[in-house]
Amino acid sequence: MAIQWFPGHMAKARRQVTEKLKYIDIVFELVDARLPMSSRNPMIDEIVSMKPRIVLLNKADMADEKVTNEWIAYFKQKDIPALAIDSQTGTGLKQIITLSKVILREKFDRLAAKGVKPRAIRALIIGIPNVGKSTLINRLANKNIAKTGNRPGVTTAQQWVKVGKELELLDTPGILWPKFEDQLVGLKLATTGAIKDTILNLQEITVYALKFLKENYPERLKERYGIEQFDDEDIVPLFDEIGKKRGCLMSGGYIDYDKTSELVLRELRSEKLGRLTFETPADFHKEE
Ligand code: G4P
Repeated sequence: MAIQWFPGHMAKARRQVTEKLKYIDIVFELVDARLPMSSRNPMIDEIVSMKPRIVLLNKADMADEKVTNEWIAYFKQKDIPALAIDSQTGTGLKQIITLSKVILREKFDRLAAKGVKPRAIRALIIGIPNVGKSTLINRLANKNIAKTGNRPGVTTAQQWVKVGKELELLDTPGILWPKFEDQLVGLKLATTGAIKDTILNLQEITVYALKFLKENYPERLKERYGIEQFDDEDIVPLFDEIGKKRGCLMSGGYIDYDKTSELVLRELRSEKLGRLTFETPADFHKEE
C-alpha cells in the first residue's frame, strides 16, 4: 500500500489511533524483523505511552535469526516485551495471547475484585504500512477480515474480530507513518520493498543494498553471484560484475544498471540471498 503522508494526514492518523486506544487493553506494535527500528513510527512511544504494549517482530522468517534474538533482548532491556512472529504461516502467534494474559493479569484481577465479569482481552494492531498488519489480523481471526486499502482518514465504526475466546482485535489496524526524514531509513524500507521503488532512485537503493551486503553478508554475495574478490573502495565493480554475469546488458555490451538493480532487489526480497537483517541493536546503542 503506497500512502502519501502529508502533515495533515499524519495528524489525522495520530488522532485516529489515539481514539482507538480508548477501547483497548493492549497494543500490538508490529514491526518488520529485518529492520525493527526503521519500520517503527518515530512517535510511537509517546502515542501509546498510556497502554501496555508488545512489540511483534513480524516477517521473522525472512530475518537473520541471531539478530532477531538480539532485538528481543534490546526491547526487553527497555521494558518492552517483544516476540518474533511469522504472520504468513502463523508461527509464534500463540505466544501473543499467552504473553498478553501475563501482562494484563493484574488489571483483570482488579476488575474481577470489583465484580466485573471476565471478558476477552481487547487489542489494537499498530504499525507503518506493509509490516503485515492485515496479514496478522487475518491469520489470528482465521479468515479474511482486514480490508485492504484501509487508509488513515477513513473513519469506520469500531468492530471487533474474535480470536478464540480470550482475545478480541479491532478489525482495522492503526496505521502510522515511518521516519521519513532519515534518508537511511528510506533506503532500508525501499530495499525490503516496504516503500515503492519509484519513490527513491532504483540504482541508489541497490548501491545501498550492495554496500550493506558486502559489509555484512559478503559470503552470500560471493555464493549467489560467483564473486571472488571485492573492491575495497568502490561498489561499481561489484555492480558491473553482477550485471555482466547475469546478462543485464544494453546494446554495445554496456551494463544495464536499472536491469541489474531490479534483479538484485528482486532476489534479495525473495530470500535468494538468505535471511537478512539490515540493522542491529549495536547500531542504535551508538546513537543512544
Ligand atoms: P499491512 O497491512 O501492514 O500494510 O501489510 P500486509 O498485511 O498487506 O502485508 C504486506 C506484505 O507482507 C504482503 O506481501 C504479505 O503477504 C507480507 N507478509 C506479511 N506478514 C508476513 C510474514 O510474517 N512473513 C512474510 N514472509 N511475509 C509477510 P505482498 O507481497 O505485498 O502481498 P502478497 O504476496 O501476500 O499478495
